[in-house]
Amino acid sequence: MVRHRPGTAAMAIGNKYEIIGADVPAETLFNGDLLVASLSESPRTINSIYYYDDTGSLLFERLCDEKTYYLFRTERGILGEYAKTIAGITGPVSLIELGSGNAEKTTLLIDAYVGTHGLTSYAAVDINRSILERAAENILSVSSDLNFLGIVGTYQTGLAEIKSLASPKLLFCLGSTIGNMHDDELDNLLLSARSALSSGDYFLVGIDLDKETEILEAAYNNQTAILTNLCVLRHLNWRFSGDFDLFQFRHVAFHNKSLHRMESHLEAMQDQLINLHKLNFSFQLEKGELIRTEIMRKVEINAFNDMFGNHDFWQVKYWTDSDQRYAVILFQLSSE
Ligand SMILES: C[S@@+](CC[C@H](N)C(=O)[O-])C[C@H]1O[C@@H](n2cnc3c(N)ncnc32)[C@H](O)[C@@H]1O
Repeated sequence: MVRHRPGTAAMAIGNKYEIIGADVPAETLFNGDLLVASLSESPRTINSIYYYDDTGSLLFERLCDEKTYYLFRTERGILGEYAKTIAGITGPVSLIELGSGNAEKTTLLIDAYVGTHGLTSYAAVDINRSILERAAENILSVSSDLNFLGIVGTYQTGLAEIKSLASPKLLFCLGSTIGNMHDDELDNLLLSARSALSSGDYFLVGIDLDKETEILEAAYNNQTAILTNLCVLRHLNWRFSGDFDLFQFRHVAFHNKSLHRMESHLEAMQDQLINLHKLNFSFQLEKGELIRTEIMRKVEINAFNDMFGNHDFWQVKYWTDSDQRYAVILFQLSSE
């Protein structure tokens, strides 16, 4: 399968591997106006999309190897045990992943679908083009006959692209990535997912569950988590000609129990003026001021199901690990 479209850059190895959207303007993916707005509000925030330049994507892979970062290993364990069951429930489907990263855990699903239904195609959406190339290597290493379509884009632009793929579909999003979204972002994602899917299609979501503060705070305060957070500023310096001095910031991550989430922040170590020259934007930070860089929802399954139910996605079944740390939930778009 090689699809060449006017205006989209495509990369292919043999006829199995294609990446589209690599020529979408960076300003469409990383919207400077939205960044200025979020850095102007109180408290100041930076969208977690800025974690994912090439360095940030590599750091995320390293975070998954950190001893205290149980999320990756736990989700991999659940998929290892239940991927075939999931394939049995959905039957043959087109597999489409949002925020695939390197798709390492996805290979478990691919294996199950190839073995059970003779799957032939897989599409991955990710904001970072380099990580899609790594995803292609991982996916094609378990099934060299598969057609791999990488879509460089945001969840929204990616969902618009996948509409035309063959139904029935299984859309999925692993790594508790949905947990990084605020309510309005999740609502928008579910609206777009609903319009990209047809009745009866599935949405599989890996999500972290709420738990003891000690376990959560250890997962987000290791060396790699600290480095990853600071590198957001490096990304902004590079993309927008900024002058953040990384040595003037401190990583702060804590469990916000009442909001059922972890939060990562960068704390200014002294008063400082920040310029983002390409955006013609400057702002003054005071010593001790926090910029929030990420939220990580820690959910309770029924409340999470309700958010999906509001958009006609109904839970079919869910699976957890023996310690109930993490859940993989299968939703189906209602036929009403
Ligand atoms: C938490 S990582 C999870 C990666 C992989 N799914 C896993 O479970 O290991 C989130 C992934 O989503 C991508 N991403 C983050 N924000 C995005 C956005 N707004 N649109 C598209 N991709 C995004 C990142 O580049 C990254 O690969």
